[in-house]
Formats: sequence, C-alpha cells, structure tokens
Amino acid sequence: MKTATFNPLDLEYQVNPFPFYEQLREESVVWVEPLNAYFVGRYDDIYDIVRKPEIFSHRRFEELSKGEFNPVPDARSLLSSDPPGHTHMRKLAATGFKPSRLKQLEGFVAELSQSYLDGCIANGQPFDFQGDFADRIPIDMISKLLGADKTRHEDFKRWANEILSAGQRASMNVQQLARIQESVDGARDYFTALIAEKRDARGDDILSAFLDAEVDGDVLTEREILGLAILLLIGGVESTAHLIGNTMFALWKFPEQYELAKSNPDLIPNMIEESLRFDSPVQTGFLTTNIDVEIGGMVIPAESAVVAVWGAANHDPEKFPDPGKFDITRDTRGHMAFGQGPHFCLGSGLARLEAKTVFNQLFERVPNLRPAMPLEQVQQIPSYWVRGLIELTAAY
Ligand code: HEM
Repeated sequence: MKTATFNPLDLEYQVNPFPFYEQLREESVVWVEPLNAYFVGRYDDIYDIVRKPEIFSHRRFEELSKGEFNPVPDARSLLSSDPPGHTHMRKLAATGFKPSRLKQLEGFVAELSQSYLDGCIANGQPFDFQGDFADRIPIDMISKLLGADKTRHEDFKRWANEILSAGQRASMNVQQLARIQESVDGARDYFTALIAEKRDARGDDILSAFLDAEVDGDVLTEREILGLAILLLIGGVESTAHLIGNTMFALWKFPEQYELAKSNPDLIPNMIEESLRFDSPVQTGFLTTNIDVEIGGMVIPAESAVVAVWGAANHDPEKFPDPGKFDITRDTRGHMAFGQGPHFCLGSGLARLEAKTVFNQLFERVPNLRPAMPLEQVQQIPSYWVRGLIELTAAY
C-alpha cells in the first residue's frame, strides 16, 4: 500500500495542492491516513471509476463529506444514492431545473450583477471583489430559486459556509464543531418551515416544483425536499461565488489572457470553462467501494472510502497539456469541475449563466478592474474540498 506523504488537512496543501496532485498522479492511488481514504488523481482512472457506481458507490457521500453534520440523515439523498434509485430521484429533482426556469432567471442575474457592481464602484474606493460582489450574487440567485426570504441572506451564507467546512471536521476544535451544528440546525428549521409554507400555498419556485414532482408514480417526501433544499444551498452558493472570484484572480495572474478576453467577449464562455478546469471550486468527490477492486496496481478493499480528486484530474497533463497555464482558448472539453457520470452537477447551467453574465458586465463597465493588493497576499479558504478566496481587493 502506498501511503501519502501529504496531508490534505494541512494548510500548505490547501493553499497550493497542485504539487501534491503531481505526486498523487505519479502514484495513481495513495492511502491518506488522516482522512482514512484512498485518493485517486489521474484523469483516466477517475473517468472510469465514476462510471462504475456498482463498484464505486456514492452511498456514503454525505457521511464522508460531512460526518455527523449530515443535515437530513433519515431521508433518501440525491448525492448519496446510486442507480437505479438515483436515476429515479434525479428525474424528480430535475423537474425543478427545466430550461424555462433558467430562462426566467437570466434577467434577474443581470439585474443583480448590475446593482451590486453599482454599489461596489459608487465611491471610487477599492472594494472586496470576493465578499462584496462575487459572494452576493449566488446567494440572491439561490434564494430566488428556492422562493426564500431575502432578509435571511446573511444566515444562508453562514449556513452554507459552515456546513461545507465540515469537510475539515477532523482538525476542528469544540467551538468550531458547535458552530457547524448551529448552522445545520438553523438551516433545517428554516427550510422545514419554508417547505410547510409552500405546501399550503405554492409559489413560482423550485420547492413548489419539488412538491408537485411526480415521475412514474414516485414523488418526493418533505424530508427529501428538505435534503434537496439544503443541498442546493450548500452546493450552489459557495461554488459559484468561488467560480467568479477564482476567474478574476486567474485573469489578474495572467494579464495577457485578461486583455484577450476583454477584447474578445466571445471567448467568455470558454474562459469560464478554463477557469473551472484551472481552479475548480469543488476539488473532490466522495465514493465507497462495494467490493475489492484494483486501480493502478493497488488493491482497494471493499468498504473503503475513495476520494476522486477532480482538481488533480483537471491538471492531468495527459489530458490537458501544460495544465498550470490559464489559457482561455484551450480545448476544455471533458473537464471534471462539475463532476462526471450519473451525479454530474444539476446546477451547472445556472452556475455558467451567472459567471457569463457577470464577466460580460464587468468587461463592459469596468474594463480597468485591477488588484488593489499584492497577488501573493491573496489567501485561499482553508479546505481541501472547496477551493476559493477569502478576499480579493479590487480597484478600478
Ligand atoms: C461553479 C459552481 C458549481 C460547481 C463547481 C459544482 C460542482 C459539482 C460537482 C463536482 C458535483 C458532483 C458531486 C460528485 O459526484 O461527487 C455536483 C453535483 C450537484 N450540484 Fe453542483 N456545482 C456548482 C453549482 C451548482 C448549483 C448552482 C447548483 C444548484 C442550484 C448545484 C446543484 C448540484 C446538485 C443538486 C448536485 C447533485 C447531483 C446528483 O447527485 O445527481 N450545483 N456539483
């Protein structure tokens, strides 16, 4: 058994995991003691394993990623199920993500981006691109999607942030763990009440669509809808906020790409794909082996936790030559930032819409947006699972 020489709970790894990913890809699979899991990093291996859910199951996704902080452990969960059950539940959940809903949200995201940008550039002073701009839009979008109360946005942000931080629970103190529990309870209570409200009076939102969803006689229970509501909150808020922040950061680190994008707005969609590949907001997926299985000459026993490192696959030079270069003209097809296989991200269309709208507006309205802090001082959030920035000060 090859044991990893790196620890994903270390800050050094989290700040810059890419040299560790190189080691991981060389070995193909390593045992990571602090997380009790096997890490897999080569593109081809990951491509293969996520297409074999009968061997590499999602059944313990919630438990492996969040431990005792799984917000709804007693209900069927989309992320923790495998085909054929998953296929069924996904069809039910997908009824909420029809193209017509995305179309409805198009105008809303443009208005949001416009008004947050107005606020940020009102007084000529530098602003925090991450906290005051990139973080704000996805919260409003998810809130609109869920038909939730606008006044609770600060709570939504805290809940999403804290519940996701459960990935780091092995290195947390009692106070930090208590904060996660508070967020789990807060989110559960709020969304339980919201679903009850929608049960009594439907609205034009995704929770109402879930309440009415029916596929081949199967419906979603209120506990399952609660799980989905919290999944959308924690899956759709931070990830998209980081996509926007990470893209701006990459453009500043590669100024010739910034210039190229500004003078060719047609490249924006591919620029977003390249950003997803280059600095994937979600770096890992969590699987469990159903039987003994061999990868890269190593036997992984049944019932083992396996972490598919999307971020390492997205920097595999066999698939993406010169992977450390941010190149907005590269062929980005096949990147794994939204996962792969049956669990491919249900919100990818929404995330892409938000990022494209934002950068179209930014290039048009503030083409001189530039860093107001040394780029070496920009800090990553402490996580091996989620990749994004704490703060990104901008001047214009
Ligand atoms: C840049 C933004 C986003 C990224 C990088 C991202 C990434 C991912 C990844 C990697 C997975 C697969 C997990 C796995 O198999 O291990 C996933 C699944 C999922 N995502 Fe996203 N996501 C984003 C935005 C969103 C948004 C905006 C929503 C909803 C509003 C959303 C909802 C979901 C759902 C429901 C699943 C589970 C699908 C299933 O289990 O069948 N995501 N996402």
